[in-house]
Amino acid sequence: MKKFLLAATAFLCIFDARAEDIALPQPKTTGGMPLMEVIAARRTARNYSAKELSPQTVSDLLWSAWGISSEDGKRTIPTARNRQDIDVYAVMPNGTYLYDAKNNLLKQITNEDLRPALAKQDFVMKAPLSLIYVSANKEYGGMHAGSMYQNVGLVCTSMGLGNVVRGMIDRDQLKEKLNLPDDQEIIISQTIGYEAE
Ligand SMILES: Cc1cc2nc3c(=O)[nH]c(=O)nc-3n(C[C@H](O)[C@H](O)[C@H](O)COP(=O)(O)O)c2cc1C
Repeated sequence: MKKFLLAATAFLCIFDARAEDIALPQPKTTGGMPLMEVIAARRTARNYSAKELSPQTVSDLLWSAWGISSEDGKRTIPTARNRQDIDVYAVMPNGTYLYDAKNNLLKQITNEDLRPALAKQDFVMKAPLSLIYVSANKEYGGMHAGSMYQNVGLVCTSMGLGNVVRGMIDRDQLKEKLNLPDDQEIIISQTIGYEAE
């Protein structure tokens, strides 16, 4: 019995998933358009349809931002001294989630629709997904976020999705709603969706 309790506790510590969390499908890490063609085609989009993104698409986008891409735990973007001190939140109409790459999970932070705090531009309320990049690293956090939004933007182009990097956000309100510790700052956001016809 003692052994079972220990094993169960260890499991819960490793994999602390709750009912409101979203288990993502394994990211698809192959295929897509040739890289140089994607770079040439990349463009900011600001006119979105409300069409939902599939769980596979959400998983692939988050993996490109901050997924684990090697057995020793390295990521899809480089970080200074491999500190990996950045987080990505996914804002969706039904709630906001922290991406947990190790467990391929979206951990629910709130079931509130935080898009109004992100908005300032009307199209944000229509698009199905916005990402928020958060870090306490004052020196390099912005660079890490830039690597992430560039990966995501290129994958969007490859998948036929639109995206826009957005600095026009209410950082104070978002920080409070996400319950971030004092030292963590919201660096930038990125809105993603299918472009309206
Ligand atoms: C750090 C950063 C912040 C940005 N903030 C906004 C924003 O708040 N709203 C917006 O509509 N576009 C924003 N943009 C998108 C730029 O306006 C856009 O990249 C630029 O006009 C060039 O267009 P292109 O991306 O199609 O080449 C931002 C881009 C970057 C890199």
